[in-house]
Amino acid sequence: MKKNILVTGAAGFIGSHLCDRFIRDGFNVIALDNLISGDMRNIEHLMPLPDFELYHEDVTEFIHIPENIDYILHFASPAFSDFETNPVKAMRADAMGIHNCMRLARKKNARILVASSAEVYGNVIGKRLKEDMLEGINQSDPVSLYAESKRYLESVTMGCNHFYKTETRIARIFDTYGPRMRLDEHNQLANFISCTLHSHEISISDESQYLYPCYIDDTVEGIYRLLFSDEQLPVNIGNPYGLPVKLAAVETARFSNNKIKTEDSHTNNFIHFAPDISKAFSVLGWEPKVDFSDGIARTNDFFKYYGMAKSEHQSEQSML
Ligand SMILES: NC(=O)c1ccc[n+]([C@@H]2O[C@H](COP(=O)([O-])OP(=O)(O)OC[C@H]3O[C@@H](n4cnc5c(N)ncnc54)[C@H](O)[C@@H]3O)[C@@H](O)[C@H]2O)c1
Repeated sequence: MKKNILVTGAAGFIGSHLCDRFIRDGFNVIALDNLISGDMRNIEHLMPLPDFELYHEDVTEFIHIPENIDYILHFASPAFSDFETNPVKAMRADAMGIHNCMRLARKKNARILVASSAEVYGNVIGKRLKEDMLEGINQSDPVSLYAESKRYLESVTMGCNHFYKTETRIARIFDTYGPRMRLDEHNQLANFISCTLHSHEISISDESQYLYPCYIDDTVEGIYRLLFSDEQLPVNIGNPYGLPVKLAAVETARFSNNKIKTEDSHTNNFIHFAPDISKAFSVLGWEPKVDFSDGIARTNDFFKYYGMAKSEHQSEQSML
């Protein structure tokens, strides 16, 4: 008998790749998305398949799924930019979403994995982040509202684990890139790709910085292993190998004529979190495998032939 897995946020970047992976591995995938910022084109290739069905629902409302559910992957979330434009609405959506998904997991007796983020670590710039290194958050900063929201998600998840004995898993995901990623998010690599697509100059304000981008296939593999592991505490899923920002820009623009301008003004406000993945390695036997030059070439190909329209479509969506 095939197992049923529910993926919330299925039309988004990571959610759609998870759908691909679980379909490929013989699961029935029940996708759920309200399409507020996702893109139907991310999953349209799956729509004709008998093992795939889509519920156009909102996780902040009561979720009704008649089928049995064995596993839930909770990846529906407001975009980072929503926390800047309307933080109260975004936090409310995240908070209600986790409660509804946990309620569903209890009702269906399903194991649930939730998508947390490196942002939960707070103000720990310059350190390699281990799972127990949470520090203070400044509530007046929009970046912190997103972090606070993810901390709440983790707290509710651990609360259900302890109190209701719900089978839970928490993936602390660091910067991920690849085909279908959002180019309208606050992310330096997304910014480079977007400049490359639109033939704009790539501008670097602080050459001393390092990026830690993890290719989507590696992130999906980490999430997959975590779901089927026994680890109930948070696990970092990210790329520990730092890439100088200039090299990232050069590789991104490799097949275009884009100029790269270095200002060395140290003014950009991108935060690059560096994960310690020793826990993922020891518990899941996981580490990222895809080389940046390979991953960015695949990403550029995607956006060149398909994604230009996608990034524009997403910007229009987020303005609605
Ligand atoms: N992409 C990254 O690098 C990264 C890093 C850390 C954490 N994460 C986390 O992973 C998760 C997925 O990220 P992503 O990059 O795929 O985001 P995304 O914006 O591409 O996808 C999110 C999806 O959720 C859907 N959605 C939003 N609100 C919803 C609601 N109320 N009901 C139903 N669907 C809703 C959107 O339509 C979209 O399809 C998020 O929780 C995010 O915080 C992502």
